[in-house]
Amino acid sequence: TNYFKIAVLPGDGIGPEVIAESIKTLNAIAEIFQYKFQFTYGLMGAEAIFQTGNPLPDETLDLCRDSDAVLFGAIGDPSFDNNPDAKVRPEQGLLKLRKELGLYANIRPLTTYASLIDKSPLKREIIEGTDIQIFRELVSGIYFGEKYTEPEGAYAYDVCRYSSEDIIPIVHMAFQEAGKRRKKLTLIDKANVLETSRLWRKICQEIAPEYPEVKLDYMFVDNAAMQLVLNPKQFDVIVTENMFGDIISDEASVIGGSIGLLPSASIGDKNALFEPIHGSYPQAKGKGIANPVASILSAAMMLDYLKLGEAADRVRKSVEYAIENKYVTEDLNTKQSYSTNEVGSFIADHIKYSEKSYYN
Ligand code: IPM
Ligand code: MN
Repeated sequence: TNYFKIAVLPGDGIGPEVIAESIKTLNAIAEIFQYKFQFTYGLMGAEAIFQTGNPLPDETLDLCRDSDAVLFGAIGDPSFDNNPDAKVRPEQGLLKLRKELGLYANIRPLTTYASLIDKSPLKREIIEGTDIQIFRELVSGIYFGEKYTEPEGAYAYDVCRYSSEDIIPIVHMAFQEAGKRRKKLTLIDKANVLETSRLWRKICQEIAPEYPEVKLDYMFVDNAAMQLVLNPKQFDVIVTENMFGDIISDEASVIGGSIGLLPSASIGDKNALFEPIHGSYPQAKGKGIANPVASILSAAMMLDYLKLGEAADRVRKSVEYAIENKYVTEDLNTKQSYSTNEVGSFIADHIKYSEKSYYN
């Protein structure tokens, strides 16, 4: 089939601006490859709270369930961040959506671009050639355990809980991916302290014999945070629990030169959602300075998921072309930079008008 129903949730902050550039890119792909994408927009996050009181209205959830894929922008708003008493928060919408759709595997690829090596504060010889895939568990752990704040505010807790069923599927996915790459899988955990981490290790050890070609190793998360900036090339595929994955993926983005470059795919058995790893960057909202590349590359991951691999490659090549020719937003080039809209149009035009031979 060449007809796809895409749910689009622009969300908060710079979300709508970067999503607009992804839609532009996908429209260029539709034109070239004769696909039809039907985009239906839904509300989620702070905007949804302001309009309906609910960060994830039922309508939005139904729309996502009923789509071939979900494209999501960003979530979060300072008016909630600075109010610890707020009972309803934008992030609850995204967390509920991930949970309801069973999006257990969040895949965050990290690559480096030759022309951006010097944009990273890390030294060229340390980061050049880094290529990592982070598999972050997304619907369990401390994000979803029991939470409580004592009414007087004397104490609060968040429970970190994992069951073997939460761990097994993503560990298999990560092993399979490592098998297609440099055949190394690193489990990042805190098994010297946490019971849940010891469960992750046990399960990884049990599964490892099914993938004899992949070398499995383990690293404590504190050491991993250091190793990522000391020697990132030692990593191939990383698998880790929800919160560790959240933290180390922001850290890893420094290697690429900007968090505005990194896409992600959140995969479940029935649904999938594609989103940048960055947040809503409220300070930049409406200024046209947000980097649309993370969102556009998330759309490319969506094309792969829809088995439109040739189209996905075309998007990635056009992004590469824009970056290598310094057609980038101000996070990457302080001397001369282009707006969100200009970068998106440049990429979409390159998809449409460059010689077909460029891509082959
Ligand atoms: C991310 C974000 C989210 C997370 C927030 C917005 C809930 O930081 O996707 O990495 O922590 O998972
Ligand atoms: Mn995050």
